[in-house]
Amino acid sequence: MPERILVTGGTGQLGSVVVERLVAAGERVRALSRRRRGGGSVEWVVGDLRSGRGINTALAGCDVVLHCATDYRHEVAMMRTLVEAARWTGNPPHVGYVSIVGVDRVPLGYYAAKLAAEQVLASSGLPHTIQRATQFHSLVRTVLAGAARLPVVPVPRWRFQPVDVRDLAVRLAELAKAEPAGRAPDFGGPEVLAATDLAKAVLAASGRTKRVLPVRLPGALFRAYAEGGNLAPGHTDGVITFRQYLAEQENPVALRYH
Ligand SMILES: NC(=O)c1ccc[n+]([C@@H]2O[C@H](COP(=O)([O-])OP(=O)(O)OC[C@H]3O[C@@H](n4cnc5c(N)ncnc54)[C@H](OP(=O)(O)O)[C@@H]3O)[C@@H](O)[C@H]2O)c1
Repeated sequence: MPERILVTGGTGQLGSVVVERLVAAGERVRALSRRRRGGGSVEWVVGDLRSGRGINTALAGCDVVLHCATDYRHEVAMMRTLVEAARWTGNPPHVGYVSIVGVDRVPLGYYAAKLAAEQVLASSGLPHTIQRATQFHSLVRTVLAGAARLPVVPVPRWRFQPVDVRDLAVRLAELAKAEPAGRAPDFGGPEVLAATDLAKAVLAASGRTKRVLPVRLPGALFRAYAEGGNLAPGHTDGVITFRQYLAEQENPVALRYH
């Protein structure tokens, strides 16, 4: 029997693309959502990583889990639920966790939770791989789209290395077939670009001409980004550029993340 891969967050920005990729590669895929879904070659299961409802059933018979579910308020609790349930299966699966480059450098509450969740997995005794990635194109675009609505576009003097979820999904599909790696090498987008240039690209893609105003702000968060804490310049792994991604968007300044 081929391996069975469970994707948590199978309906999310990244998880949905991971599911598609695995199905296209002929893998046996089970996907988790809190709501009932159906269709295609995917075995959808209902479960909630906060309450634990349905998680034992979701894990039963799975060889690999790609944990793409996230909730900034409950990241650690969700990891604990997953780890506990995985430990109690007869044959503990290889758990892959998607984290973020800079969780140990950038002082954001969500990043602290991701780091703590990494530590829960790393100390679980389960075979595991932690894959940190840089910001997704969609996140960078959405944040800049908000600023692009103002008459003058204020943008911090930061750099980003946005990555396409399709590129990251390729890495995760490889990871699912590989031996557990502990902390895997970071996965970054193809280009490191100034936020001002990214903002200009968003404006250009939507046919707008506005002044982009580089701004400096006080505080540890600003400094961590200014020092490149969110970057993985030695890992320009992705191939789809931000401009290519923008060219595919119907409305490059839409304020929706998905
Ligand atoms: N955004 C970025 O720039 C970025 C960069 C690097 C890494 N990452 C990481 O990539 C991962 C995926 O992010 P994303 O942006 O694709 O997430 P997303 O689109 O916000 O999707 C979140 C997913 O989590 C599921 N979920 C939430 N609470 C749940 C619960 N209690 N039980 C079970 N499932 C639950 C949701 O499923 P249902 O609603 O269907 O239940 C949904 O599919 C995250 O770990 C994130 O930290 C993100």
